[in-house]
Amino acid sequence: MNSNNKLISVKGRERPLSKKQKQVFLSLSKYEFDFSFLRDRDYSKKNKILLEIGFGSGEIIFKEAKKNPKNIFMGIEYYRRGVAQLLKKIEDHNLKNIKIFYGDAHKFLENFSGIFFDEIWLFFPDPWPKKRHEKRRFIQKESINKLNEVMKPKGNLYISSDDKSYIAWTLSLFNQNNRFEWLAENNLDWENPYKDYHGSRYEEKGLRKNKKPYFLKFRKLN
Ligand SMILES: C[S@@+](CC[C@H](N)C(=O)[O-])C[C@H]1O[C@@H](n2cnc3c(N)ncnc32)[C@H](O)[C@@H]1O
Repeated sequence: MNSNNKLISVKGRERPLSKKQKQVFLSLSKYEFDFSFLRDRDYSKKNKILLEIGFGSGEIIFKEAKKNPKNIFMGIEYYRRGVAQLLKKIEDHNLKNIKIFYGDAHKFLENFSGIFFDEIWLFFPDPWPKKRHEKRRFIQKESINKLNEVMKPKGNLYISSDDKSYIAWTLSLFNQNNRFEWLAENNLDWENPYKDYHGSRYEEKGLRKNKKPYFLKFRKLN
């Protein structure tokens, strides 16, 4: 981490941004997350702080932030084009309740301390379906513990995927972790989208290829 408490992007291969996207990207500094933003705030109990990891083009975080102006939304993404797309929406709608961390979510979590988040969303993380690539999956034993550390007690963690092996992997790792409970109401619970859920862009692409989405919800214990 550098002295400004900011982390550098790790994403290498990417299509270049268009001229307009480059321009909107310059507004990142206005919305960039820094640690003082959370620490120096006087939160009323009504305000929730939510974190989306890997927001893609940001359509879910944008819609939720617009609908819930009192809540604070933090989004992490290392895809520059996605960050530019979210910035455009923020600027067009003059939203004041989204902060962006442009960089690697693992690095963010490594350097983050404090119990802030009421909810964390990980919608359709990169699936890395090949066995030899499993280590690249976002969900690992260590990341589950780290997510737990930054969440408020009884906070909710949402993880969806249309890769069944990712879902099985996630459930097996959460099963070995005693700091979360899986909030499944029945054995088909994972087929039910979350309440008030909008549907993500990646999910829509999958649906067009007949890929079925699965939805897991965990609660931090105590
Ligand atoms: C499969 S896409 C899904 C995007 C979005 N959540 C959706 O459902 O449409 C996964 C996203 O996570 C981002 N991502 C993956 N690993 C990340 C990491 N370690 N830090 C930040 N972003 C990450 C990728 O750049 C990509 O935009």
